Amino acid sequence: MRAAKIQFDGSGSLRHLLTLERMPPGLIHEILDTAEALAAATGGKVKKLPLLRGRTVVNLFFEPSTRTRTSFELAASRLSAEVVNFDVAQSSTTKGETVLDTLRTLEAMHCDLFVVRHRENGTPEYLAQHAGPGVAIVNAGDGNHAHPTQALLDVYTIRRHKGFDFSQLKVAIVGDIAHSRVARSAIHALIALGVGELRVCGPAALLPDDLDPSVAATSDLDAVLDGVDVVMMLRLQKERMRETEVPDEADYHARYGLDRRRLTLARPDAIVMHPGPMNRGVEIASDVADGPQSVILEQVSNGLVVRMAVMARLVGAGNLAS
Ligand code: NCD
Repeated sequence: MRAAKIQFDGSGSLRHLLTLERMPPGLIHEILDTAEALAAATGGKVKKLPLLRGRTVVNLFFEPSTRTRTSFELAASRLSAEVVNFDVAQSSTTKGETVLDTLRTLEAMHCDLFVVRHRENGTPEYLAQHAGPGVAIVNAGDGNHAHPTQALLDVYTIRRHKGFDFSQLKVAIVGDIAHSRVARSAIHALIALGVGELRVCGPAALLPDDLDPSVAATSDLDAVLDGVDVVMMLRLQKERMRETEVPDEADYHARYGLDRRRLTLARPDAIVMHPGPMNRGVEIASDVADGPQSVILEQVSNGLVVRMAVMARLVGAGNLAS
């Protein structure tokens, strides 16, 4: 709740991006409109725009990442920023430096925007509270709490396929909901945009007990898939489970895996999403992941323009779409 407040400055402008909880829908659509404009501007031959020229973006990743880190790096460099990839394994963090001292040190080198991933919930929020004037923090995933740019790229992808009116849509999120910051942020974004119906599904032990009352939760996958427009599959986040909690993968696939038969229960034009990394044959069958209804690689492409839009909004020359 606090993160939802401190990401805005005194005049109500977005200063950091920490969470999509209680984000005004107009603001979400504005960011997505900017992403559309950037996609149009960068889709042809012009790959670079000068919106972040003279700015420095630091990727501060204290947890492993393939697509999110690369996506932020490319997004920043396509906006002409300088990018520093802070290598935690080689850094003074291993000598006991606190994350706040790391921020202060990099701020002293005149860095403007920090993209932060950390296993502890609330680390980006903590850094935002202590960031110097004009310095922006973007949460790239904290613990099981939030992953706002992933949710923005997810709703951008849905909007491109299903249009602007979310009230007509039925969306299912399936898998390890309890440990998923992707699910938490997607739920916030979809509720903010007025989604018609939101269903989550997974083993009882992997369903959180603090879900918004408007979200229907069940362990019956066939029932959940019935008539949905969007299916979002999630990985089992074993690194956040105790060993005894980790389900058997074959059993899990039999009960909660999305295969071709199950996908026929959704609407024929339903799209299949996954934030990655995928575990093929566990939460999703390969032929579904690579099938005609999958938009999984499109999500990756969309992540680039959505992150460009977020960075342009926070420290760049403003909203291209307005
Ligand atoms: C996710 C994450 O790190 O939260 N991946 C991502 O950012 N695309 C999901 C996951 O790790 O399963």
